[in-house]
Amino acid sequence: MPDSTVATRSALLLRSFRKTFPSAVRGEGVYLWDAGGKRYLDFSGSAAVNFIGHGVQEIPAAMAAQGKQLEFVHSSQFTTPVAEEYAQELLDFAGKNFSEGCVYFTCGGSESIETALKLARQYQVEIGQAKRYQVLSRNQSYHGATLGALSVSGNKRRRDMYVPMVLEFAHVAFPYCYRCAYDCTDGCRNCGQEYAADLEKAIEAAQGQAAAFIFEPVSGATLGAVLPPPGYLQSVAEICRRQGVLLIADEVMTGMGRTGRNFAVEHWEIAPDILVAAKGLSSGYAPLGAVIMTKRVADAIANGSGSFLHGFTYNAHPLSVAAGREVLKVLQREKLVQAADPERPGSTAAALRHALESLRDSKAVGDVRGIGLLWGVEFVADQATKKPFAPELNFAGRVGQAASKRGLLVYPMQGCLDGISGDHLLIAPPAVITAKQIEWAVERLREAIQEASAQV
Ligand SMILES: Cc1ncc(COP(=O)(O)O)c(C=O)c1O
Repeated sequence: MPDSTVATRSALLLRSFRKTFPSAVRGEGVYLWDAGGKRYLDFSGSAAVNFIGHGVQEIPAAMAAQGKQLEFVHSSQFTTPVAEEYAQELLDFAGKNFSEGCVYFTCGGSESIETALKLARQYQVEIGQAKRYQVLSRNQSYHGATLGALSVSGNKRRRDMYVPMVLEFAHVAFPYCYRCAYDCTDGCRNCGQEYAADLEKAIEAAQGQAAAFIFEPVSGATLGAVLPPPGYLQSVAEICRRQGVLLIADEVMTGMGRTGRNFAVEHWEIAPDILVAAKGLSSGYAPLGAVIMTKRVADAIANGSGSFLHGFTYNAHPLSVAAGREVLKVLQREKLVQAADPERPGSTAAALRHALESLRDSKAVGDVRGIGLLWGVEFVADQATKKPFAPELNFAGRVGQAASKRGLLVYPMQGCLDGISGDHLLIAPPAVITAKQIEWAVERLREAIQEASAQV
């Protein structure tokens, strides 16, 4: 008997065998079109990737020009003008903390996280701290899909099956004000210090073996744009400095303007040793990630063994770095970081905040939080008690589907409460979105929430 499922199954291993995926054929501005001609407003920038808008022709033009000139060289044999110039431009963009530092280019977020973890370890070895190898991180965090990145991630749904395959280091509590473990009523003004103290305890429990601490300045997919409480990140940075532990800011989602600063750490005026970027770095036009390190980190290797013991065939790929370089030019020319600045009157970020806040009227909305152009909407079965929907209802997924039916793309997630239950959406539109498009998107989202609410 022929198996009828085989004939219709895609040759591509898609994200799910149970879901049908529309075929995307075109993008322009905030819109994507599928092969059937349906238009979608990309309200989540895919997965907080696109920042400059779709279909910006300068980017493929820059990639084509680079490809015609030189498509690839191996980094063990050559450097390239495009990678050298772009590295300097990125250091300048990252600010004076990274002056005279170095940049290592990869093909995405996870590769960059792997690179940062190994860089932190090598740094410690080079300065005579060979005992230090552990990388501490936080519960309810996400740092990537590769095994090293999963090891430091706290996203239960994404890591549980692979736990036997990864090294386990300490994960400390994540300050999540809407569901604060200390039950505070002052927006975590004081308990930020309690959370920071947890990190210090974990570093001490590692008995001199902690090499680094990795964190997302604003939570990404796992919790949905949860902001750090006042003073917390400053204390974390101070503890790491005092304990000889490198501070790695994972800005894969928050970097390159998304929160209204070049990098989100600038909001809290902290100076990490290593900054990791991807997603918005190329806005999705090419696979690209970057590890940006301070002079102190680069010097330790330069003055020590002299070589970073790490490498990918495609690191600093000329076509990808040409794309990233052009994206940076567009982002600066179009003043997109300013558009994402929440403190600028009349900014796109201010319009987005205002529109999303109006969703609090929906009975199923428990919290609306975020900064710049990175927002989370958390759903609850009961606003007063903050009781979540049963996970099997997949409330966020239902909202996502109802939105997609209306031509609106959002990023639904589950697990914000305890890794399994708790539903939320991530909203992260391209910075070129207009106030009118925001209004349209939020109205469709409101309808989608109503439709999902009527189903459960
Ligand atoms: C904060 C953070 N770090 C790392 C990653 C992994 O990046 P990639 O999917 O490009 O490997 C992601 C992806 O969502 C992320 O949000």
